[in-house]
Amino acid sequence: MEALVCRKLGDPTANPPSPQGPVEFSTNHPIPELSSPTAVRVRVRATSLNYANYLQILGKYQEKPPLPFIPGSDYSGIVDAVGSAVSRFRVGDTVCSFAALGSYAQFIVADESELFMVPNGCDLVAAGALPVAFGTSHVALIHRAHLSAGQVLLVLGAAGGVGLSAVQIGKVSGAIVIAVARGAEKVQLLKSLAVDHVVDSSNENVIESVKEFLKTRKLKGVDVLYDPVGGKLTKDSLKLLKWGAQILIIGFASGEVPVVPANIALVKNWTIHGLYWGSYKIHRPGVLEDSLKELLSWLSKGLITVNISHAYTLSEANLAFSAIKNRKVIGKVMLILDDKNTARSKL
Ligand SMILES: NC(=O)c1ccc[n+]([C@@H]2O[C@H](COP(=O)([O-])OP(=O)(O)OC[C@H]3O[C@@H](n4cnc5c(N)ncnc54)[C@H](OP(=O)(O)O)[C@@H]3O)[C@@H](O)[C@H]2O)c1
Repeated sequence: MEALVCRKLGDPTANPPSPQGPVEFSTNHPIPELSSPTAVRVRVRATSLNYANYLQILGKYQEKPPLPFIPGSDYSGIVDAVGSAVSRFRVGDTVCSFAALGSYAQFIVADESELFMVPNGCDLVAAGALPVAFGTSHVALIHRAHLSAGQVLLVLGAAGGVGLSAVQIGKVSGAIVIAVARGAEKVQLLKSLAVDHVVDSSNENVIESVKEFLKTRKLKGVDVLYDPVGGKLTKDSLKLLKWGAQILIIGFASGEVPVVPANIALVKNWTIHGLYWGSYKIHRPGVLEDSLKELLSWLSKGLITVNISHAYTLSEANLAFSAIKNRKVIGKVMLILDDKNTARSKL
């Protein structure tokens, strides 16, 4: 089968990919066998690139698998084979899921307990983009912060994978959503989603712009900060939080881990949530399951949409990683399998 194999750590964005690069495109990797009676083999239709997948190949992610490994976490596809004790799925069913590794391949094997049926009416490629990005934002905003209608949500990196999902979940929840993103194209997309206020960080002062909006709407400040970026943007955003605000620490796309002063958190009664979505699979699997079911139902009802700005084949993965690295992605970048016509670069 076709698969991307990471044989050594390094930057996977070299163009054209060199044989000495960290990731090799293999066309004769062995198809994985069903590993237990409850195992299901899925023919992958679409698999998503998350910032974490890029960091993992660079060797900069918190989880460092032994080499060689097939990268990739969330995916969608069609059930290709089932173990003798599988009761919930049949060959031909459309499913989505996420794994610690292994989705950048034509086939992947999962236990049936890890798979979600993709409902009729849901786009299968969009479903492959859902678990990590939307899952993270859903657990953060709904399960942890209990975001409610009328609260003010400030989303940093708002046109990225997790950011754009947070914006949409905020709107579904009835929150007043403020989005920060860089560049006209990202701003335009956010405005098309009826975001209440969009700040273009390439040419606007974030603090001044948000303060002006809050003043115009007679709002006291931000209730929930959703932060996948870190660095100076976090430091600035703290100035916009009101008494009793919640801070969701999601990631550090800027490369800089921010400091939230404990004395100010005390005086302002802030709650700081560290959130590592993948660890819910071990510690609170029921939360993840409920969350993904709700997201799939929202997707099928059109309450949320997945914006895929870039789509490539497996062999073009270096271009997909470049799109992430160069901050070009608006929403999601996907690897699409078995459909050479729809997997075209938009770069
Ligand atoms: N905690 C969890 O469980 C969890 C789950 C998923 C992701 N994450 C983390 O969340 C972060 C975002 O992930 P993602 O998949 O959404 O990535 P993404 O699609 O690449 O989005 C990241 C966004 O961050 C902004 N950004 C600001 N400074 C940046 C820089 N120096 N380099 C790159 N981007 C920069 C970019 O927006 P502008 O260009 O508009 O500024 C970009 O849209 C990552 O750190 C990832 O590891 C955490």
